[in-house]
Amino acid sequence: MQQYLQNKKGLVQGVFDKVYDKYDIMNDLMSLGVHRIWKRNLINWMNPGKNKILADVACGTGDIAKLFIDNSSNKNIELFCIDPNEGMMKKGKNRLSNYKNIKWIKGSAEKLPLKSNSCDYYTISFGLRNTKNINKSLSEAYRVLKSGGRFFCLEFSKIQNLSLDLVYKRYSKLIPEIGKFVVGEKEPYEYLIKSIQEFVNQEELKGLMEKNNFIKCEYRNFSGGIVAIHSGWKI
Ligand SMILES: C[S@@+](CC[C@H](N)C(=O)[O-])C[C@H]1O[C@@H](n2cnc3c(N)ncnc32)[C@H](O)[C@@H]1O
Repeated sequence: MQQYLQNKKGLVQGVFDKVYDKYDIMNDLMSLGVHRIWKRNLINWMNPGKNKILADVACGTGDIAKLFIDNSSNKNIELFCIDPNEGMMKKGKNRLSNYKNIKWIKGSAEKLPLKSNSCDYYTISFGLRNTKNINKSLSEAYRVLKSGGRFFCLEFSKIQNLSLDLVYKRYSKLIPEIGKFVVGEKEPYEYLIKSIQEFVNQEELKGLMEKNNFIKCEYRNFSGGIVAIHSGWKI
C-alpha cells in the first residue's frame, strides 16, 4: 500500500498516457454509457447561472466543459479546463474545437494555475481519486473559488446495497479484460479498480470537504452509490 502511494504520481500519469487515445470509448464500454447520465446529473444539480466562470479540474477530454457550455444561456462563458495529461487534453481540444472559449491549461489539482477567488464553480469528475493529495486538492479548490462559489465532485463511491456490491465486484473483475481487448493494456484498468476500492467513502469525503472550510456540504448517491456527487460552498 505504502509503495503504491509513493509510486502513485508516476503511476497515474503512466495510466493516462496509455489510455488517452481510447479513453472515451472505454468510458462508454465500462459504464455501459451510464457515465453520461452521471455527468448530466452533475450539470443539472449545478444548474449553471449566467456569466459564471467554471474551473473543470482533471478535465480529461472535456465532457464536463461541453455539458456546462451546452447548458449555459451564455455560450461564450469563460471556462478553464485543467489536467496534467497533455494526451487527454489534446483529444479534448480536437473534439471540442468549436468551443473557442475553453482555455486548456496543463496543471494539477494540488497546485492550480489559477488566481485566488477567481471562479464561480469548481468541478472535478472522476479526478479526485487520482490526485496524490486529496486535502491539498480540496484546499486549492477552496482557494480558487470566489466567495459564494460552489464545489462539485463526481466520483466513484461506496455501494449501499450488499447484493449490488457483490454484482459490481464481479463485474469489476471483467474490466481489465475489456481494457486488454480494446486498448491492449490490462494494467491501467487494474489501477482503476484498485483506486476505486481504496478511495474514501461518501461521509469521509464530506468530512474532508468540511475540514477544508467548505460549508453546507452534502452528497447525492447515484446508481446505488456506485458514484456520488458531493457539493460544498465557499463563503
Ligand atoms: C478518469 S479521468 C476523468 C476525466 C474527465 N473529468 C471525465 O470525467 O471523463 C481522470 C483525469 O485525471 C487527471 N489527473 C491525474 N492526476 C491528476 C492531478 N493530480 N490533478 C488533476 N488531474 C489529474 C488525468 O490526467 C485524467 O485526465
